[in-house]
This record gives sequence, C-alpha cells and structure tokens, in this order.
Amino acid sequence: MDLLLRDRIAVIGGASHGIGYGIARALAAEGAKIAIMARRAADLQDAADRIRSETGAAVLAVPADCRRAEDCTRAIATVCEAYGGIDIVINNDGAPPLGEIETFDDDAWRKAVEQNLMYVVRMARGALPHMKARGGGSILNITAISAIQPIGGFGLSVATWSGVIGFAKTLSIEAARYGINVNTICPGYIETQRLEKVFAAGGKDPAVMRRELEAEVPLGRIGTVEDVASLAALLVSPRGSYITGAAIQVDGGLLRAVR
Ligand SMILES: NC(=O)c1ccc[n+]([C@@H]2O[C@H](COP(=O)([O-])OP(=O)(O)OC[C@H]3O[C@@H](n4cnc5c(N)ncnc54)[C@H](OP(=O)(O)O)[C@@H]3O)[C@@H](O)[C@H]2O)c1
Repeated sequence: MDLLLRDRIAVIGGASHGIGYGIARALAAEGAKIAIMARRAADLQDAADRIRSETGAAVLAVPADCRRAEDCTRAIATVCEAYGGIDIVINNDGAPPLGEIETFDDDAWRKAVEQNLMYVVRMARGALPHMKARGGGSILNITAISAIQPIGGFGLSVATWSGVIGFAKTLSIEAARYGINVNTICPGYIETQRLEKVFAAGGKDPAVMRRELEAEVPLGRIGTVEDVASLAALLVSPRGSYITGAAIQVDGGLLRAVR
C-alpha cells in the first residue's frame, strides 16, 4: 500500500538511534522529507547520512535537546526555513532516570516534566500554525507501555507520559477541525541501545534478563524498531487520518487489560 507520504515534511525527535531512527528511516523510505533531532551532533549527522544514502530522501540534521524550550523553537524554525513548512511531528527522545518515587526531589521531577511533557507541548504548539496553514497534519508521541501498565521504578516516566496521553487526547479533539490527527504509541520491549542498557543495569546476567523479558511477552520475542515504525508511518500518513486520540500499544501482547 502506498502510504501517500511522498514529499510530506516530517520532524522526528531522538532519531539518531533506536525507535526514532527506525521511524525516520521508514518515513524517508516512503518518500517523506525528514528532519531529525538529537543532542550528539556527530551521531545525528551519521544517522542523516545513512538514511539519505539508503533511501535517497531529503534529510536534515537538527542538533537539539528536547528539554530546552529554545531548542524546540529553533528546530521548528529551521525545518520551516529549509522545507517551507511542517506536516508531521513525531515526539520521541530518551527518558528520565529510573528509580523509586521517593528518591526523586523536585528538581528531578521538573526535569522529567520538561523532557517528557513540555517537549511534546512545545513541539505541538510550534508546529500547529504551520499544519493549519497547510490544511492538515499529524502529531505522534512515543511513550511506553509503562504509561498504561505502570512498572515500579518507572515513576518519573509513567507520571509524565500519562500527562502526554491526556494532552494528546485533548489536542486530538481541538485539532480535528483542522485536519490534524494526534496519537500516542506505547511500545513494549524494543531492541535498541536503551534496552541493552536496561539489561546491563539489571544486576543479573544480561542473557538471563533477556530470556526473562521474552518469556513475559505473549509473542515470545523482543520487538524491533521496525515493529514500531510500521505503525508510526501509518498513523502519520493520509491512510491513518481517521485514527485520532488513540494510545496504541506495540508490545507483542504484553498489556494485560481489556479496554
Ligand atoms: N527500547 C525500549 O524497549 C522502549 C520501550 C518503551 C518505550 N521506550 C521509549 O522510547 C523512547 C526511545 O527509546 P529508544 O530505546 O529508541 O532509545 P535510544 O536507542 O537510547 O535512542 C534515544 C534517542 O533519543 C535521543 N535523545 C535522548 N535524550 C534526548 C534529548 N534530551 N533531546 C533530544 N534527543 C534526545 C538520543 O540521542 P542523544 O543521546 O544524542 O540525544 C537517541 O537518538 C524513549 O523515551 C524510551 O523510554 C523504549
């Protein structure tokens, strides 16, 4: 199926590695013009060069820290200047530190809110006028399965991503009349550098930890970035435009709930 993404202009956060990279590559392979963001400029440039040479797409690297308001503003302005507007914003990055809730002070909470919630608010607020001017658009947030099925130790992320899901649902109602859909993907365990770090920090043999996590997943495997990217590409494409206000898990069946 042609997703009708050719020449759509997409900004993807946290896209030098992992899930963001997978989504950026998928959109580029569909012919979108993409801009990718991350903090480490050299890694970001490598990622841009790789995607450009593999897909032939236009790829712009915009070094930015999503926790900084001025970086979000600059990223939106840079993309509009380079490509003439924005059709798609995908909010993705790293995540706040893990730990039990009582170990975090106000400063840690403020940083988590800046990183997970205010980043999404700022990117949406900055891109909406451009999407309206172009007659529509799409906003997609990447959170985690823990936002809808909390896990101990993930409190900073769970609390702030719950806010993101509420924000996205409300914005989906307000932005629908402009032809803009707003959704959230909640990944389960996905094969990335970040998951490797979780294995390494688990205090157990990483191979044992991997087997334990795989055993939790009904489909019996860790997901791939392509598993997330396929859904992301559909949701931000004209083919997915009737889906809005949704929080969808990509987790091999990990979520134990009927909704
Ligand atoms: N992998 C999983 O199993 C899994 C499961 C559920 C949810 N998630 C969530 O999905 C998101 C992506 O995870 P991942 O596994 O793809 O991580 P990853 O492989 O570590 O990649 C993270 C990307 O985000 C960038 N990034 C990190 N902090 C940033 C910041 N402050 N500003 C801008 N860019 C930033 C990183 O580059 P720089 O460091 O250079 O900035 C990198 O490009 C995270 O929020 C994670 O919690 C992951």
